Amino acid sequence: MRAVWITKPGPSSVLEVRETPTPEPGPGEVRVKVAAAGLNFAEVSARKGMYPDAPPTPCIVGYEAAGVVEKLGEGVREPAVGTRVMALIRFGAHADHVVIPASQAMPIPDAMGFEEAAAIPVNYLTAYHILFRIAPLRPKQRVLIHMAAGGVGTAALQLCRTVPDVVTFGTASASKHDHLRAQGCTHPIDYRSIDYENEVRRLTDGRGVDLVLDPLGGRDFRKGYRLLRSAGHLVCYGFANGQGPGGRTPLKLVGALAQTPLYHPLSLMGDNRAVAGVNLGHLWHEQEMLLEELAAIVKLWEAGAVKPVIDGVYDFAHAAEAHERIEYGRNVGKVILKP
Ligand SMILES: NC(=O)c1ccc[n+]([C@@H]2O[C@H](COP(=O)([O-])OP(=O)(O)OC[C@H]3O[C@@H](n4cnc5c(N)ncnc54)[C@H](OP(=O)(O)O)[C@@H]3O)[C@@H](O)[C@H]2O)c1
Repeated sequence: MRAVWITKPGPSSVLEVRETPTPEPGPGEVRVKVAAAGLNFAEVSARKGMYPDAPPTPCIVGYEAAGVVEKLGEGVREPAVGTRVMALIRFGAHADHVVIPASQAMPIPDAMGFEEAAAIPVNYLTAYHILFRIAPLRPKQRVLIHMAAGGVGTAALQLCRTVPDVVTFGTASASKHDHLRAQGCTHPIDYRSIDYENEVRRLTDGRGVDLVLDPLGGRDFRKGYRLLRSAGHLVCYGFANGQGPGGRTPLKLVGALAQTPLYHPLSLMGDNRAVAGVNLGHLWHEQEMLLEELAAIVKLWEAGAVKPVIDGVYDFAHAAEAHERIEYGRNVGKVILKP
């Protein structure tokens, strides 16, 4: 099979498409012929050598894919050969074929395209898990969403629309504000030209927000916490401020770490605020929880309430371009790799 290899940490030129032995499914596993795979901020960080959970290089990454089950391992009956599925995968999805535990392969509706299905697991699970499990969203709440035009941000905006009268504040470059409005964002904010903390305070008459979705880290955790009203939640799920385009950026990382606040339980109690963390890549032991959430997302898709926005589809030979699209912040919605 062919796969996109990260040959060593570095810029997008370290990516190579190589012939690799096609994996065989073991007991309890299935082999999926990949039709489309999602590309995420995490895999781009892995290529730069800035993602602690990545396998050692040379490696094949890829947290999600959609395709057709083509071979069953010992003891597996479902999903049957020929079933169209999507899955959250512990790496290896950027390949023609991937082997996964049978329990992780979720059948997809006939009407759902593979590219759309590949855009769902990481982005929608992250947003859904935050909005409906960690800090359950209620009508009329106010939510601040950072990186709002990206994959997770777009999913979060769509999911907020499923709860009545939720008011959203989305930070993104000004050129992406039409996209934000189309996804239901009440107040797009150009964080590059104005201080979003002041702007959110102004727009809420000083009251602040109920929930902050923060994948930026560093001093933004501080700003988000300050913006919380009583009973508000700051959910931390990324550290994008710790890196920049190109290879490793250790100075940026150290700078962002130095600006990261520490929260004492007694101050949280005194402030009536909650700080929570989410890392989908550390939830492999909670398959039941993830599958329940993924099933709920598929139901919302069937009802027309959510729909992935695809920024672009790149074949493996153009994987470097796909990486750069995310690395340089050009994407609006999801970047897809196609064997
Ligand atoms: N913990 C988890 O389980 C989990 C799961 C999925 C994703 N994440 C995290 O969620 C974040 C978003 O992921 P994604 O895949 O949705 O990203 P994405 O689609 O690549 O979105 C990136 C966009 O964010 C904006 N941005 C704002 N500040 C940025 C910064 N400091 N560095 C880079 N981009 C910045 C850029 O747009 P503009 O600046 O033009 O607006 C960029 O286009 C990442 O931090 C990722 O690690 C975490």
